[in-house]
Amino acid sequence: MKKRLLIVDDDPAVGAALQTQTAGSRWLEVCGQTTGVEETWRALHENKPDIVLLGGVQEAERGVLCQQFRLAFPHLLFIAACSEQELIWEPFFRNLGMWVIAKPIHSGQLEALAMQLSSMTAMSSMHASMPAGSAAMGGMIGTGTGLTGIGTTSNGMGGAAFPGVEAGMQAAGFSGVAEAKPHHPYVAGSGQQAKKRLITVYGPKGGVGKTFLSRELAIYFAQRKLGGNPLKVLAVDFNLDLGTFATALNLPRTPNLYSWVQDIDERLHDWIRSQGREPGDLSREEWQVQIGSVQLSPQEVDRHIVVHEASGLHVLTSPRDIRHSFEIKDYHLYLILDALKNSHYDVILIDTAPDTTDATIQALFFAEQVVMVGNPVVDSIENIQRILKLLREADYPEERISLCMNRLQRKEMFTLDEIRAYFQLHPSKKIFPIPDDQEVKKSINTGNPVMLHPGKLAAKDAIEALGKALLPLEEEADGSGKKKEKERASLWKWLRR
Ligand SMILES: Nc1ncnc2c1ncn2[C@@H]1O[C@H](COP(=O)(O)OP(=O)(O)O)[C@@H](O)[C@H]1O
Ligand SMILES: [Mg+2]
Repeated sequence: MKKRLLIVDDDPAVGAALQTQTAGSRWLEVCGQTTGVEETWRALHENKPDIVLLGGVQEAERGVLCQQFRLAFPHLLFIAACSEQELIWEPFFRNLGMWVIAKPIHSGQLEALAMQLSSMTAMSSMHASMPAGSAAMGGMIGTGTGLTGIGTTSNGMGGAAFPGVEAGMQAAGFSGVAEAKPHHPYVAGSGQQAKKRLITVYGPKGGVGKTFLSRELAIYFAQRKLGGNPLKVLAVDFNLDLGTFATALNLPRTPNLYSWVQDIDERLHDWIRSQGREPGDLSREEWQVQIGSVQLSPQEVDRHIVVHEASGLHVLTSPRDIRHSFEIKDYHLYLILDALKNSHYDVILIDTAPDTTDATIQALFFAEQVVMVGNPVVDSIENIQRILKLLREADYPEERISLCMNRLQRKEMFTLDEIRAYFQLHPSKKIFPIPDDQEVKKSINTGNPVMLHPGKLAAKDAIEALGKALLPLEEEADGSGKKKEKERASLWKWLRR
């Protein structure tokens, strides 16, 4: 049966063109076009679409619209059509369980999606008698821009787990839909799980202290306890090409992110060959569908981490060789982040590069919290302001961002109040200061974290204050059951926020 497409776009020409292009389609028919939010609600009721294409809508933010519509019409599939500039928000849309295509829209892309949707619907009804969860269509996430073949490095991907291929996927070493997850067919699987604490440390300038702070926060959390047990903490080095997190803790660089990526690709290739195809012969669209059917098992991370013995911290380091980083694609990062979110870690800290590559943007959008690090110098402040502006324009929830000024000296040219005013921060938002500390340089060079330093250091207290604000755990002084209960309750409250 043909899938019905509703187009939401301020430009009537979009609908007219697609109507003509899809006139003879086996898979797709345009069932209407709307421009405003009110009108769209009406059309959702009256025209009964299967797919909603969100193009340019002046009135509202598309991510929010999609969430609102989905509440009332949970079966709908949403596609965000993005201009080249808007593609920066692709991970964000995908995280909301939307498909993303690049403008200009070609009816071929939409037909490919409708075709996939039809075949998946057929498969899921075939499997309707299977246990709960396994018949769901998996967390179907955007197919990304790979479909469009226009100039972007993004490969796009999805967490779609196709029920019909479940057994094969498991044989190929992917978890597929093996776990019975009670998730909505169109919502990313990860969104339905109890949340891990994923904290991204970012700062749009090199040398401001991102790696230092990621390391110290990771060590700080690894020493905290919850219910008598140390928190399970993972630090991830997302400086794919020039990461130094391992060095900052005197750790070996193998295994690492690249060993995981190789492992993913090996299984993906085996899986494709098991279907009688050669991976190299697949078209972009076919490749897209294959990637879309992958979901990693959260336990996979265990094979690729190194352990910092002194603190118990686990680290997923960046590749040893810069050339390896070139082979890490957008879909690997997506799959890995998704797996990490479902892993056994309580807290995951991601150290990033001072750039706006896919890796960094994904790390920002996957995070529940972002520590934005700068120094009290004009170029660092200016770039933070620019990033804040960009995030505000994308309706990024600002409450997720904690601002941190590192390397403050006793007398600075700019006061924290002046910096606050420049950033136009909400009055309730504080900037966390970290003092410039002689010991820091030494601690980086020797690989001994400040947080494991036995003495009293100014930087140590400041990092602890930031850590407490990020993860408000009560200290376990007496270990009494009541206290533990309370602590757990407060963590849960915070985890679910
Ligand atoms: N609070 C601090 N006090 C003194 N030196 C610091 C402080 N924070 C960072 N540094 C110095 O700055 C250098 C760069 O820090 P790093 O964490 O590698 O920055 P980034 O990851 O942002 O590029 C470190 O090697 C360290 O010597
Ligand atoms: Mg760094």
